[in-house]
Amino acid sequence: MAKKRIVVLTGAGVSAESGISTFRDSGGLWEKYDIMEVATPEAWARNQDLVMEFYNQRRKQLYEVEPNAAHYALVKLEEKYDVQIITQNVDDLHERAGSSCVMHLHGELKKVRSSVDESLVYELEGWELRKGDKCAKGSQLRPHIVWFGEPVPMIPAAAELSSTADIYLIIGTSLNVYPAASLVGYVQRGCPVYLIDPAEVNVMHIPGVKVIRERAGKGTAELVDELLKEA
Ligand code: OAD
Repeated sequence: MAKKRIVVLTGAGVSAESGISTFRDSGGLWEKYDIMEVATPEAWARNQDLVMEFYNQRRKQLYEVEPNAAHYALVKLEEKYDVQIITQNVDDLHERAGSSCVMHLHGELKKVRSSVDESLVYELEGWELRKGDKCAKGSQLRPHIVWFGEPVPMIPAAAELSSTADIYLIIGTSLNVYPAASLVGYVQRGCPVYLIDPAEVNVMHIPGVKVIRERAGKGTAELVDELLKEA
């Protein structure tokens, strides 16, 4: 019999216990940096050095952290389920833990791309993108990140995937950023939806959601054990 499909939407909270800052919690990145100065196409046009430095620091940190219990629990879930991860995170901790299917909605820190042709995407060697690093067409390389105000090219595929879920998990996201936050709207009626987050998240638009007020490490490991028993 075919395995049931579990679609998992993750946000910054799934990587918090690895030591990566979230964005909107107290002490989060958007308290220390102005989104408009580092994460928009206008910021890039205005001050490439500042934007490159912001993402260089994020990338450098990524080489210093490891996946945590939540990432590993999602790998274990593959023993009995077809697990499809949709992540808003630009880190590679799901992949490093061993998850097979990971879709990045907001780009990937370890990749860079042409600033004139978005199909020219490269793996960056090491953590540092420098001024003068060019694509094959001669333009400055930029971080492979979906900035605020830019379209999210993976949304149609993520919406389609969400509509095929037998079970839907949401882990560690404030659900503040659209269109990612609207993906749960594509889930079929009757599909169980679980949300794991230690803080209160607005779930008004998710009828019947089972909220688990735990940190990702503990909450995900416990839910995965339960789901594996049920399978
Ligand atoms: P947020 O910072 O908005 O939300 C993080 C969520 O993680 C909050 O709901 C926290 O309560 C929760 N959290 C904190 N610690 C946790 C833990 N140990 N376990 C589980 N949850 C925990 O981050 P996102 O929702 O991911 O986009 O933000 C979405 C997008 O906004 C990001 O992808 C990024 C950002 O601006 C771009 O940079 C394009």
